[in-house]
Amino acid sequence: MSLTQSQIEKKLSDENLDELLDLWRTEQGAEKRRDLDLIAAAIPFSKDATLRVLDLCCGPGDVGRAVRARYPKSRIDCLDRDVFLISICIATNRREGVSGQSFVRDLWDAEWSRGLECDYDVVVTANAFHWLDARRVCEVFKDVFRLLRPGGVFLFVEPACSEPTFAAGFAEWKSRQPSRYSRENWERFWKRANEILGYDHTKLLGSRDAHLIDESMPVSGWVRVLKSAGFESIDVLLRDADEVMVAAAKL
Ligand SMILES: C[S@@+](CC[C@H](N)C(=O)[O-])C[C@H]1O[C@@H](n2cnc3c(N)ncnc32)[C@H](O)[C@@H]1O
Repeated sequence: MSLTQSQIEKKLSDENLDELLDLWRTEQGAEKRRDLDLIAAAIPFSKDATLRVLDLCCGPGDVGRAVRARYPKSRIDCLDRDVFLISICIATNRREGVSGQSFVRDLWDAEWSRGLECDYDVVVTANAFHWLDARRVCEVFKDVFRLLRPGGVFLFVEPACSEPTFAAGFAEWKSRQPSRYSRENWERFWKRANEILGYDHTKLLGSRDAHLIDESMPVSGWVRVLKSAGFESIDVLLRDADEVMVAAAKL
């Protein structure tokens, strides 16, 4: 069983929203706040600018709202394939007065960007492209390039592995770092979500098939895909034990 978007939105009272956003914040790990701050800070436009922003694979929408907090005149469009997670985003953005359109779309669909304008100043994504395979991520990055206006920027944070030469030492160091994610926090979010929805939504999330990128793309791989899509001024803004944050421009 599943619910329609409007049925889900009816279940998202202010109280439920606050609880889910809190559980999501915990599930995303302590580093997420830093990541959001850096994504917003790195956007190379004046804070007065009226930006058109696409929060791609928005989930509950905290990336888009972090950009909006720094650029209060911006308009944030949101896109995700998951109707429950994007409903949290839509309801929260409505409550906070964030303007923009929302699109329930799947990046595996070649037509995913149908109807979106091709004049975005900024496209942002966190923790989602690793649900694609390497071939599809190349195609999606080309679509993102097309959706940006000349001068627009693309920033994302995704899991990254180390190069084979450095893998052993990196893994040893990583084993001594606090882990970002915990199964317990994931289960806590989804237990409450399922109670609110009245069915097990995790069955609709899709499986982590072996052919998906998951944690198997090194930083150089993400950079290579950006270059082949046409991006320039590519910069690695941050790299920690789990993830890399990359920014690039369409010049
Ligand atoms: C870990 S969540 C991150 C959500 C959000 N970006 C954030 O940082 O809170 C991954 C998101 O990617 C979305 N996603 C995964 N594969 C997708 C696809 N093929 N098309 C659209 N969205 C997808 C999921 O539905 C989920 O909302």
